[in-house]
Amino acid sequence: MRLVLVGPPGAGKGTQAKIICANQGIPQISTGDMLRAAKAAGKLPKDLVEKMAAGGLVPDEVVLDLVDARVEEPDCKPGFLLDGFPRTAPQATGLDKVLGKHDTELDVVLAIDVPSELLQERAVLRRTDKRTGQIYHLKYNPPPAGAELEHRPDDQEEVVVKRLSTYEAMTAELLPFYEKRGKLKRVSGVGTVEEVTERVFAALGISLDKGRAERA
Ligand code: AP5
Repeated sequence: MRLVLVGPPGAGKGTQAKIICANQGIPQISTGDMLRAAKAAGKLPKDLVEKMAAGGLVPDEVVLDLVDARVEEPDCKPGFLLDGFPRTAPQATGLDKVLGKHDTELDVVLAIDVPSELLQERAVLRRTDKRTGQIYHLKYNPPPAGAELEHRPDDQEEVVVKRLSTYEAMTAELLPFYEKRGKLKRVSGVGTVEEVTERVFAALGISLDKGRAERA
């Protein structure tokens, strides 16, 4: 399965991506995680570090190069999940070219819809375990004792507002791009993580138990 998860900041893309990928045995390709890893390794230019911290998008060619190189890796052969990419129409056409090189195309683009009044709280109270990458929420999914928690610099309240408006501007062209091709599916991201997972799996036509059983 080759799929894309789209949704506003804090919609739960990362949370659901980890569950789908574990179930399907495919890698999660998160451009946000790749950019943060490049920053941690001192490999992200200063102007891009500042752009991310301010809630803006990095240039299309930067993320396209990252994704192009990543899907070449052998673990992507059976499929992959793109989390937070593509975000713009040029990224979507760039992705077509990347997939064309492998003589393949996307199966589905799944948008997770969450009203903006819920997103602020989800992002601001998010914490990530530095060692495992596991995503927690101080209110809805509290971390265990001993977790090494990180608060993303772009999860400050005023930056989240900017990221939300960037997302709204971007999806105005991205979602119709996939809708016209009949690739777009939408689910509500409101409710508990488990409730959203049920909707996501139903929309993708996969079963939580089936994936586990097939790999057992
Ligand atoms: P990126 O890392 O992709 O961030 P994002 O899209 O803003 O999404 P988030 O990671 O904030 O949220 P999420 O939907 O994954 O939610 P999560 O599961 O963590 O991008 C960061 C930056 O990198 C961008 O701003 C840009 O600068 C740059 N970038 C990345 N990709 C790019 C691209 N393609 N082009 C250009 N620039 C790019 O959940 C959030 C919180 O809510 C967590 O605490 C979680 O525990 C909690 N939660 C999840 N689900 C539920 C639920 N159902 N109920 C209650 N709480 C929940």
